[in-house]
Amino acid sequence: MTSISALSVAPEIYPLVKTGGLADVAGALPRALAAEHVAMRTLCPGYHPVLAALKKTEAIARFDDLFGGPARLLSGRAGGLDLFVLDAPHLYERDGGPYVGPDGRDYGDNAFRFAALAKVGAALGQGLVEGYSPEVVHAHDWQAGLTAAYLHYSGKPRPGVVTTVHNLAFQGQFPAEVFGKLGLPPQAFSIEGVEYYGGVGFLKAGLQLSDRITTVSPTYAEEIQQSHAGMGLDGLLRARAGELFGILNGIDVEVWNPETDPMIAAPFSRKKLGQRAENKKALQARMGLTHAPDRLLVGVVSRLSWQKGLDLLLACLPLLDEINAQLVLLGTGDPAFEAAFQDAAQHHQGRIAAHFGYEESLAHLIQAGADVILVPSRFEPCGLTQLCAMRYGAVPVVARVGGLADTIVDANEMALEANCATGVQFTPVSAEALAGALRRCAKLHARPATWRKIQANGMKTDVSWTHPARHYAGLYREIALAGDTPA
Ligand code: ADP
Ligand code: GLC
Repeated sequence: MTSISALSVAPEIYPLVKTGGLADVAGALPRALAAEHVAMRTLCPGYHPVLAALKKTEAIARFDDLFGGPARLLSGRAGGLDLFVLDAPHLYERDGGPYVGPDGRDYGDNAFRFAALAKVGAALGQGLVEGYSPEVVHAHDWQAGLTAAYLHYSGKPRPGVVTTVHNLAFQGQFPAEVFGKLGLPPQAFSIEGVEYYGGVGFLKAGLQLSDRITTVSPTYAEEIQQSHAGMGLDGLLRARAGELFGILNGIDVEVWNPETDPMIAAPFSRKKLGQRAENKKALQARMGLTHAPDRLLVGVVSRLSWQKGLDLLLACLPLLDEINAQLVLLGTGDPAFEAAFQDAAQHHQGRIAAHFGYEESLAHLIQAGADVILVPSRFEPCGLTQLCAMRYGAVPVVARVGGLADTIVDANEMALEANCATGVQFTPVSAEALAGALRRCAKLHARPATWRKIQANGMKTDVSWTHPARHYAGLYREIALAGDTPA
């Protein structure tokens, strides 16, 4: 098989900078693709942790004025990844997170911060650096959306372009005034280009001008072509349905390996499931929950946002008492959710515990120690926590949407009979349906042999990147050096 060179353009990348699953994907895919003879390097912004981790750095290009200041393109390795890092202190050296300042608001110049990333991604794709000419550029989400536009309007031969939608809710929409500073030709401000409802749409541009569009599950690929989930882009996506593919995410099965995980209390495996109990005990102790080996322990690891449907869980808290369950929540985000869960924890000490913040080791311990991982999302492009749950023998209870629908086999009577159930699904996404699912889950948990089979089925499920990487590699090969004009 001939090898292929691909450039990934990603605004965040695990283990260096992460706000969500996109970072996990960007961090894991290059290694998985190596097995498919794809050499992937990643361009990412020069945030402080990235620069600090970069080894054997070499400046391979310089820009006197990249959207308002000088910048350098560095090449090097960090976090086990081959990186190009855009060192542009005026754009990326900030006190807050990758997208929002310490006040929780989007940075006012996000359009230019990410136009810069896309512009340099496109330049790299077209020979900016001698000896490097990728055949494919893979752009992630709105932050990299303009990559396809810069390539398309360059008028020069270009690599093939894939744009992946990780979440259609984040579109990178900016006012029309921004356009004049992007360095795109006037004709780009059109419905066939970057124009979007009178302004500039970064994600729209990527969807319009890429050779292939992917999103992170087959069901989400269908959902976003419908008006209820298309968030204004469903028409465009329907028009490009022939080039739109849903490829499920995997997880990094080395980072998420219950047999070797240094962040959990006791290693375990499908064959040694009994040792899992030590993790439940450690989790209960760490979170101040009553030690109760047999009580159903429900875990949540999530961004706290409307998308994730945690208000449905708030509505179900009385039910947790009724089914004698405990709840542990790890999350960060909307202060109103934090306040509500904080309040619940105060009023139900020993039964409900919450930790607010981003904490990797606790996320691992919850996966290893909780009986259930709950994901009641209103929409979920793929979702990674239910995949981690299966790998760690926690039973996912999920809303039947997007990637959650695609990855979990509901434990209905027939699936139990066929011994293929891996979790519990509910629909519609309502508090009533969630309550029904939790009741059903409690009944299953009360049948230990059945429960163990569901756990074992999850642990047997292939949640690795092996198959998804093969799918991406196939797409790359179809579009390598696509030429000038996308369909
Ligand atoms: P999304 O990207 O929409 O937030 P995903 O399920 O795709 O949802 O990915 C979330 C990732 O972030 C998972 O790897 C999960 O373990 C992790 N995560 C989410 N919240 C936290 C948190 N508060 N602390 C640690 N890890 C978290
Ligand atoms: C987004 C989605 C999530 C998906 C992740 C990685 O953040 O919300 O469902 O798993 O991207 O693709």
